Amino acid sequence: MHRFKKGAEKMDSVIRRNLTTSSRFTWLKSHPKGHHEKTATKGEMSKEFKIYRWSHGSPAKKPFLQSFFVDIRECGPMVLDALQKIKAEQDSSLSYRRSCREGICGSCAMNIDGNNALACLHPIDAPSSKATMITPLPHMFVIKDLVVDLTAFYHQYKCIEPWLKPRSPPEDGREYRQSPSERRKLDGLYECILCACCSSACPAYWWNPEEYLGPAALLQARRWIVDSRDDYARERLQALTEDVDKMYRCRTIRNCTAACPKKLDPSNAISNMKVMHQFG
Ligand code: SF4
Ligand code: FES
Repeated sequence: MHRFKKGAEKMDSVIRRNLTTSSRFTWLKSHPKGHHEKTATKGEMSKEFKIYRWSHGSPAKKPFLQSFFVDIRECGPMVLDALQKIKAEQDSSLSYRRSCREGICGSCAMNIDGNNALACLHPIDAPSSKATMITPLPHMFVIKDLVVDLTAFYHQYKCIEPWLKPRSPPEDGREYRQSPSERRKLDGLYECILCACCSSACPAYWWNPEEYLGPAALLQARRWIVDSRDDYARERLQALTEDVDKMYRCRTIRNCTAACPKKLDPSNAISNMKVMHQFG
């Protein structure tokens, strides 16, 4: 596994990360009405969105919730549509990631009203309901507004070697064959879009970000271990267990499974690998 820091330097990194995260939420909690900046006024069909604002380029400025009002008659049905409208018409400096707007790319993951979700799949509540609060994925370094630093997350993904590793080329020299039942074993695993909703919802990942691989990377590891075309299942499992923290830091809390917007079950994938490791 890629190690980001060693010894005291590593601990310092963890502390800074947790302080950054906890101060973010402690501050928001202690200011329930927010240090608000309103940019549009409320109308009858307007929906209020309270959006987390902060930039690591201006670290002295505290994070705050900014209120935006969007007329839902002139907006698409999803939270991402509202963000697009706000950015286009009210504040072009608002930052977030998005690409496919179809729940495929995983880039628009954020926390909406306390739950990790994909903004492009999350419907806007009725204007009469309370304001929708949108904050970055929890326990991740914030770069700007709703954009978090996913460097560690992708290092963890890379370290499980997410590619096919056969010992020899296919018999016909063209393709690696798989029976329908072998292919079915990938169901519930291959659909992962690496949105990070699961990992950023996992307490074990919050407190051991440099040792524990996290549910997303582990679900992906399982995806390659069960692939009948891959010949390195044993070695892959060994790599996950040579350092006990990589996989066994999972305490089966199952926040990951509750958070997954694709309805996958990372917790079960990890449990299956534990069984495989212990009983062969
Ligand atoms: Fe996102 Fe689900 Fe994959 Fe986790 S398992 S990264 S929540 S799609
Ligand atoms: Fe691609 Fe939301 S924009 S998953």
